[in-house]
Amino acid sequence: MRIKTIVANLIGPENLGRLDYLFKPRLRRSWGGPFNGQNFRQRIYSNLIKKISFEAIVETGTYLGTTTELFATSGLPVYSVEARPRAYAYSSLRFCRRRDRIHLYQGDSREFLRRLVADEDFPKSKLFFYLDAHGLEHLPLREELEIILTHWREAVVMIDDFKVPGTDYGYDDYGPGKVLDMSYLEPIQYLQLYAFFPAVDTKQETGKKRGCIVLCRDEALKNALSEIDTLTPWNLDVSPRQSSSP
Ligand SMILES: C[S@@+](CC[C@H](N)C(=O)[O-])C[C@H]1O[C@@H](n2cnc3c(N)ncnc32)[C@H](O)[C@@H]1O
Repeated sequence: MRIKTIVANLIGPENLGRLDYLFKPRLRRSWGGPFNGQNFRQRIYSNLIKKISFEAIVETGTYLGTTTELFATSGLPVYSVEARPRAYAYSSLRFCRRRDRIHLYQGDSREFLRRLVADEDFPKSKLFFYLDAHGLEHLPLREELEIILTHWREAVVMIDDFKVPGTDYGYDDYGPGKVLDMSYLEPIQYLQLYAFFPAVDTKQETGKKRGCIVLCRDEALKNALSEIDTLTPWNLDVSPRQSSSP
């Protein structure tokens, strides 16, 4: 075992996360800033927040809290979950003085969402969900969507790293059946979702130029999202394979 690994094991992931926060200030803008440093995506988010009276914001995949920090400026309560102890410890220290408004959890995102469902005090109406818990061994995304969209009828869900048809935005591909594109949503089409994509291509985006999709089930929310000029609606009735090329 290398010396570095031995020392890291002795210190422990929680203490390493705290040390990261104290001694590596550049990490406070991880992923290039909120929403991967993407200005147009930040505009989409800002338009959503202005248009819809959300009661709270829920994020899966806190990492180091870069986007969580932006969410907190909305004045809404923010709930975020992170699986990895080191990143969770980092964010816990980062937001330790704002625990009244920023609620952090450590663990699996699906378990966290089920806990919110069971929590009688947790808001049951309009919520904004930012799903960004990808990258570990198991991809929780489809289960996250099913939990959210069956329990919060008025949810608006933004998924990061999702393929935007006909553009060169980046997206995640974890192997067969785990590509974040329209085919990934086929098994949950029974939920009768409305889908929206960024209204511009990557030339007008900054930062890491990752794709995203915005979903909802509620008809009134769909109408509200249709009025947001940074989003463009997508017809989910059309087979994604026919319509998403190239
Ligand atoms: C891309 S990073 C999130 C970046 C963050 N949202 C931001 O904008 O700065 C993805 C994070 O999700 C976490 N993650 C992956 N799978 C998870 C799961 N099942 N539950 C909770 N967190 C998970 C990873 O540990 C990682 O820190």
